[in-house]
This record gives sequence, structure tokens and C-alpha cells, in this order.
Amino acid sequence: MLKHRVVAVLGVSWVTAFACDVEGVSEPAGVEADVALDDADEPRSGLTPAALLKQLLVAEVRDLIEENGIEPLEPPPPVSDELFELGEALFYDKILSGNRDVSCSTCHHPRLATTDRLTMNRGVYGVGIGPQRVGAAVGGRTTQPLWNLHKLQKGLAVDHKVPLAADGYVYPLGGPFIPFAWQDEAFDPDMKAAAGQAMMPEVTDQEMLGFPGDNDFTDECPQDDPPFGLVLCAWGKMMERLGAVPEYVEMFEAAYPGVDFEDMHFAYAGNAIAAYEFRAFFSDDTPWDRFVGRFDPTTGAVTPGDDDALTLQQLAGARRFLDPDLGIARRVTRATRSPTRTFTRRCSRNSGRATRCRAATGRAGSTITGACD
Ligand code: HEC
Repeated sequence: MLKHRVVAVLGVSWVTAFACDVEGVSEPAGVEADVALDDADEPRSGLTPAALLKQLLVAEVRDLIEENGIEPLEPPPPVSDELFELGEALFYDKILSGNRDVSCSTCHHPRLATTDRLTMNRGVYGVGIGPQRVGAAVGGRTTQPLWNLHKLQKGLAVDHKVPLAADGYVYPLGGPFIPFAWQDEAFDPDMKAAAGQAMMPEVTDQEMLGFPGDNDFTDECPQDDPPFGLVLCAWGKMMERLGAVPEYVEMFEAAYPGVDFEDMHFAYAGNAIAAYEFRAFFSDDTPWDRFVGRFDPTTGAVTPGDDDALTLQQLAGARRFLDPDLGIARRVTRATRSPTRTFTRRCSRNSGRATRCRAATGRAGSTITGACD
């Protein structure tokens, strides 16, 4: 039970601060608040009505944080600079798509908070980013953001279609698509689900691979032997493409010291992309994080939450979002499996983090396209 409940009626309109469009729970603007005070004109305990309201809301949101088990976000495991740089180059490079027309960033664009701001994703054949993307094959799902993936390593995608099983291996779509030996060789134990996931869009026809007749991958890989023959063949061809770019060979070998490029398979690319995602899309300095409290990676200490980090309106929004009676957080966290990510999930915008747009350019001979096109 909540220790604090704000009861009476204030008679002002609140527009909830975190107005995510959570399915079925969309809120009309200008909703009459259930956050309220009686006798709003009468200062009590020397506090103005606004200060009193804030005090009550802070207490209530802190209770809800505790009830929902939300804790300061710990940082992702460290990755080497070489692995990060390789992953970064791959993430923004259309070379990983059959028709060279899509990169991971086409759908997970940093300027759009690592999504595409679309209801249904737009993949191959298209031009442009986000709502401006035209001519593309449309997929059946909404693109998910990539913030703080280190908290989701038990499985990815909204229905956990990329799970990490109890045996320690990743089974995309529930199948042994990625050979176990590859996973043992290339996957960092802390990043397995993300590494396995990062190998799948490239072999998904509408997302990055293309359709029969489109390119050398779909022409030469056995369409009559899907799915295993097709994906293994396409991953092999992708390594051939990458191997034809001397800078990539250098980057792979720098990222995996002691392994020759010719002994590498596509799981090394997946692992590098995961390393990039973990470091680049770690976010723990939003107003919400500051309110919850922040973890200091150098000392291991937790900086206590700052009551002033959220505005009154944001506090009211947080309260509504986490309110068990409304069930928004429960619905969202059930879908996302992580209460710590409630404020970054399903909102197609950043929750306070400055966007970054890094162009990965200048690697001669490759088709690196940059994040900002
Ligand atoms: C054509 C658009 C598109 C492209 C290209 C694409 N994705 Fe996605 N991504 C999606 C969609 C849609 C989902 C949601 C999938 C689902 O729910 O089944 C998703 C989900 C994910 C997730 C799961 C996030 C979570 O919270 O569970 C990760 C990680 C991810 N993508 C990484 C990548 C990487 C890495 C690449 C490039 C190799 C990539 N994506 C390319 C559209 C795309």
C-alpha cells in the first residue's frame, strides 16, 4: 500500500508529463487532475500550496518507485574501444543489407531516440529516415528503442523472440540459428542476447536482406532451404563483403586480438554491434535518473535521489504512470520486462537525454553511410 495519497481536489488541469502513447491508455490532453489539495489558498506549515503539493507528490512517487522495485541503473559492462568502433561502423553501414539500402540506424536512428517514430517499421527498398522514409517494404512491428540493453539480456524483442536460454545459448525465433560453437567463440558472456539479436535483421527479408531476385544473397543462398541454409549462407556472404574492405579487416582484427579475419564468422560482427549498443545507448542521466538516484561506477556508491530533479508536472506524470490503479507502468513493464526502463520504452522520443548523431565516415572503399543521412 502507498504510505502517502494525495486526496482532495485542486481544480487545475494537468497534462501528464510523460505522455507516452501506451496502447489503450492514451490520455486526452487537459485531463482534470486527481492530484489535488483542499483549501489551496491556505498555506500550511509555512509551505505554499505548490511546495506542499510537491512534497506530497515526491513522497508518493518515492513510494511508487519502491513498490515497482525501481533502482538506480548500473552501467553496462565495459567494452574495448576497438570493439566499440567496429560495432559503431557496422551499425551505421548499409553494407550489411542485401541491397545496400538499409542499416541498423535506418530504423534505430539516434536522432529519433534510436527508433524510427513509425507505427510499423520501414525496411528494404526505402529512402529516407523515420516518417520521411518512402518506398520501403513495411514490417509488421514497431521498432523498439535500444537504450540500456544491458538490462535486457535475458531476452530481447517485445515477445522475447530472441531469448537467452538456461543452457547459455541464444535461440533467435526459438531456433538454433546461430551455431553454438560460434556463440562460444565470439559472444561476450554479458552481451549474448544483444549479440545474437544483432545477427538477425540482416537475414530478415523485409528488414535488411531483401527478397528473392533482389541481390546476390537472396539469389545465391538456398531459398528452398530456409531457414538454416539461407541464414548461414547469407552470413557467410556478408563476411565476404566485409573482408573486401581492408579497413574492416583491420578493424575486426584490432577488435579481436589474436584472431585472423579469415577465421572469423558473422557472430564476431554481432558481438561488436552489441558492444556498440551497450556503450552508445547507455543513458543514466535523465531527470528521472537523477530523481531515482545515480550509481557511481568509479566508487560503486549510489548518489541519493534529488527531490528537485523533476518539475511538478513531471512528478504528477510519474505518479500517473506508476499508479497501480491505472496500470500503465505494469502494462509497459510487462511488455518490456524492466521497470528501470519504463521511461524510455514506447516513447518515441528521448526522456531527457541529449541526442547524439555520429557520422561514421571516411573508411575508404566501404559503403559507410553515416548516422545522419
Ligand atoms: C527495418 C527496420 C529495422 C532494422 C533495419 C533493424 N531493426 Fe532492430 N528492431 C526493429 C523492430 C520492428 C523491432 C521490434 C522487433 C519485435 O518486436 O519483434 C526491433 C527490435 C530490436 C531490438 C530489441 C530491443 C528490445 O528492447 O528488445 C534490438 C536490440 C535491435 N532491434 C537491434 C537492431 C540491430 C543491431 C540492427 C542492425 C543489425 C537492427 N535492429 C535493424 C526494426 C529494425
